[in-house]
Amino acid sequence: MADIINQKNQSGDVQMNWPALIRWLFQCAKPYLKKRGDILHARVAHQYALTLMKQEGGNKKIIEPAIILHDVGWSSLDPIQIQAAYGVRPKGKEADRLNRIHEREGAVIARKILQSLKYSPQFTDEIIFIIQQHDSGITAHSPEEQIVKDADKLWRFSKTGFWNEVERQGLEPAELYQYLSSRYPEWFFTDTALRTAKREIKNRAGETIQSTGN
Ligand SMILES: [Fe+2]
Ligand SMILES: [Fe+2]
Repeated sequence: MADIINQKNQSGDVQMNWPALIRWLFQCAKPYLKKRGDILHARVAHQYALTLMKQEGGNKKIIEPAIILHDVGWSSLDPIQIQAAYGVRPKGKEADRLNRIHEREGAVIARKILQSLKYSPQFTDEIIFIIQQHDSGITAHSPEEQIVKDADKLWRFSKTGFWNEVERQGLEPAELYQYLSSRYPEWFFTDTALRTAKREIKNRAGETIQSTGN
């Protein structure tokens, strides 16, 4: 596969076929993402990352692989552990411990995938650094890390993500809406993500009211 992604041009220079690489990364991530039902999450978050990059800049060679692969580590936990680790309801130290496992194991799996593609070792290290602390790290050390973290969080504000989270976390729509609308101003690193969240949360407000029939 590395040969398809890295093709020689007429002068003999090796060039990366970027769309082929992105397609292949999704293929590689798929079996791992299935565990928590995260394929849609990865797709939506990837789209948000592309939108944020247009406004905020950042290196696609770090951002796109990082956002596609960031949650492959959930595959290391069983469904009960995932339920205990993840969600809007406060869960304590055990939740934090399990959440760290999905970050650490995700970094190991992502490195294997990128090495199998002979991906740039320098970019691989930066991608792994982001994945290792994409949930637990409260700061962002680079514009690329800011965009990955913001794109990941924007998922739950999207129509697809919001209703998907209501379902998989067993929440009332109003509960998730309250949680997001009270916290989102502190969550984002980039202005574009903050503006996007603000716009989306208004849309979710209307849908939430409709769903309760009020
Ligand atoms: Fe995650
Ligand atoms: Fe995520």
